[in-house]
Order: sequence, then C-alpha cells, then structure tokens
Amino acid sequence: MRIAIFASGGGSNAEAIIRAANEGRLSLEVGLVVSNNADAGVLQRAKALEVNYITIDQRNFDSEESYISSLFSELDENGIDFIALAGYLKLVQPKLINKYKNKITNIHPALLPSFGGKGFYGKKVHEAVLEAGCKVSGVTIHLVSEAYDRGPIISQLTVPVLEDDSPESLAARVLKVEHQIYPEALQLFAEGRVKVTDNIAKIIDKV
Ligand code: GRF
Repeated sequence: MRIAIFASGGGSNAEAIIRAANEGRLSLEVGLVVSNNADAGVLQRAKALEVNYITIDQRNFDSEESYISSLFSELDENGIDFIALAGYLKLVQPKLINKYKNKITNIHPALLPSFGGKGFYGKKVHEAVLEAGCKVSGVTIHLVSEAYDRGPIISQLTVPVLEDDSPESLAARVLKVEHQIYPEALQLFAEGRVKVTDNIAKIIDKV
C-alpha cells in the first residue's frame, strides 16, 4: 500500500505515520504529503523525513475540474492507492471520495459520532467535551464519506478527562493517543483486514 497524507497544519500525526513506516513497523510506504497551505508545518516535516511533498491550493485554479485533475495527476504519478487525512482542513471533494472509495481515512480528536460534524475542529472539539462534563474523550479513525465525520468507524481509543483539564491539556493528552492509533489503523488496511458493509466497518482476523 502506498499512501498520501493530506494535512493543513503542524503535521505531528503525519510525522508519526511516516516514522512508523520508515522504521518498518507498517506494511506501507508514504509516497506523498499533500497540503493545501504552503506555510503548513507538515511540509517542513516531510522535507526533513525525505518524503515527497506538494502544496495544492484550489484557490490557484480556474475551476474545480482543473484543480481535481491536477490533484489526480499528482496522486497517480506518485502511485498512491490510499489517502490518510491528518488535520486536513479542506472538505474532500466527492470526486476524490469516489476515486478512492473506502480508501480515505480521517482522524478526529473525540469519540464520534459525538462532537463531530460541522464546526467541530481543533480546540472547539475539546471545549465542547469539557462543557458537556464528559469523563472520557478519545480519538476516532474513520473512513471518509460524503457525510462529514460520519463515515464507518475503524478504531477508537479513550482518554480520561481530568477535573482540572483545559482544552489545551485535554488536546495534548488526546494527541499522544492519536500518534499511536493512526499508524495502527493504517496497518489494518495494509493487511486487508477492514471490511465495510452498510456503513459499518469490521476488522477481520489476520490470516
Ligand atoms: C489533530 O488533533 C487531528 O485529530 C485533527 O487535527 C489535529 C492535527 O494535528 N484532525 P497535527 O497537524 O497532526 O499535529
């Protein structure tokens, strides 16, 4: 499996995945890092880790078609057959979702289907978890479908919410778990162990 990681920000999840792959802990290669933001920290990390990277910003294209066709050419030229979104703050076009059907994952810093959907990103997620008085939060890896944050769930891990947590302290605890769970989830796909039926993903035993 040869994956592209799409990220818009700092890229700590991208780095965790690239390191796990480079250290031989995953049966996949990271062939490309794609950002929609030329200033994103993830591009520096990709450079340092010697992974191909590109910025592709829809605002620099005349039409959605020319943007999509340029994105598809990059993915094809780099032999990409799977996409991992990691802090990618741009909506994924239906055309991309169709081309990579059940082959695009996302990471969400809470336990979906709670605290997901429109407006739940970054610090806002952790603020909402604290406001609701939850005693646990966590991380969800899910497949990307056209319904935002509602694609089949692949894996989840919980973290405790502590009495004196701030959104920042909770985010930091969650992020640590993100770095563990995302490489593990991608390995499930690399091993062909994810089967999706009627919006439910099942993990089958290793053969
Ligand atoms: C993570 O918290 C991820 O769950 C969310 O965006 C953040 C990205 O962090 N979708 P990083 O850029 O990987 O450090």
